[in-house]
Amino acid sequence: MSKKIILSGMRPTGKLHIGHYVGALENWVKLQDQYQNFHLIADYHVLTTSLNTDDIYDNSIDMLIDWLAAGLDPVKSPMFRQSQIKEHTELHLILSMLITVNRLERNPTVKEQARDLHIDNIIYGHLGYPVLQTADILLYKGDAVPVGEDQVPHIEISREIARRFNNQYGTVFPEPSPMLTNFARLPGLDGNSKMSKSLGNTILLSDDPGTVKAKMKKAVTDPQKVRRGDPGRPEICLVFSYHKKFNESELPEIESGCRSGVLGCFDCKMNCASKISQLLEPVREKRQYYETRPDEVKQILKDGEDRARKTAIATMSEVREKMKLG
Ligand code: TRP
Repeated sequence: MSKKIILSGMRPTGKLHIGHYVGALENWVKLQDQYQNFHLIADYHVLTTSLNTDDIYDNSIDMLIDWLAAGLDPVKSPMFRQSQIKEHTELHLILSMLITVNRLERNPTVKEQARDLHIDNIIYGHLGYPVLQTADILLYKGDAVPVGEDQVPHIEISREIARRFNNQYGTVFPEPSPMLTNFARLPGLDGNSKMSKSLGNTILLSDDPGTVKAKMKKAVTDPQKVRRGDPGRPEICLVFSYHKKFNESELPEIESGCRSGVLGCFDCKMNCASKISQLLEPVREKRQYYETRPDEVKQILKDGEDRARKTAIATMSEVREKMKLG
């Protein structure tokens, strides 16, 4: 039996942080053997948040290097840019006929982004964001899509569009299911609910141990715990939430040390920083390998794009045949 297909994607915003790692990449790496994976660099989608394309290529390469460094295997899974495979735009147009504006306006991420960007007039491309995402998934006949909670409404739209196409023209597409990562989103160093480059509250996969320490020093903790000796409340402490992910084995003693006050925040942070650096060590090593071999990285992308394109072309010819657009 052939393997089920997974389509995973990220917008290229440059170097990735540990939130991407625990929320997505770690999981993608685990899925490599059991499924046939396609890893998409969504360099059209990124235009919905910034029209400036000066860094789009460098950001894509930086993200690709982080993927490889985290352990994704380009031999098993093609990695490619959406913009290099014309079939994405072609299928996007066809799929846009199969969903109403009203339905797309109900998509919660459109409302959120309009609010975050302080705009009341959203662009057409933004409204169509999940339609393009659907084309990304259906072109490769993705059965499953690893996503966080926030993306589930998009996958629901993808299912509706796939169903609509299949009913109208005959079955070509599976109805893709969301595959939820079980690890909740990692909060930012400033205590903000989200780790994000634009907020400057991240630890990057490429940060060296000195940088990780310096960043951790500034992390927020329980404001009631001012000096060592003061009892702290791990349940509201950001650093404790990192320990939960990166330092599971020492959790009980950290918790009791914090509550009793024996453990000071500085020591606790430095311990956490060193656990994070340990985890990142192999990632950073691999990153250095690829950083010094730009031609190899370009070749990986080219190979990935050639492979993905073959699948995309095959799907489009099925679509055209069913639609009598041959
Ligand atoms: N919308 C996704 C995000 O912001 C990125 C993305 C684009 C994607 N196309 C996709 C994710 C296809 C999964 C499948 O994270």
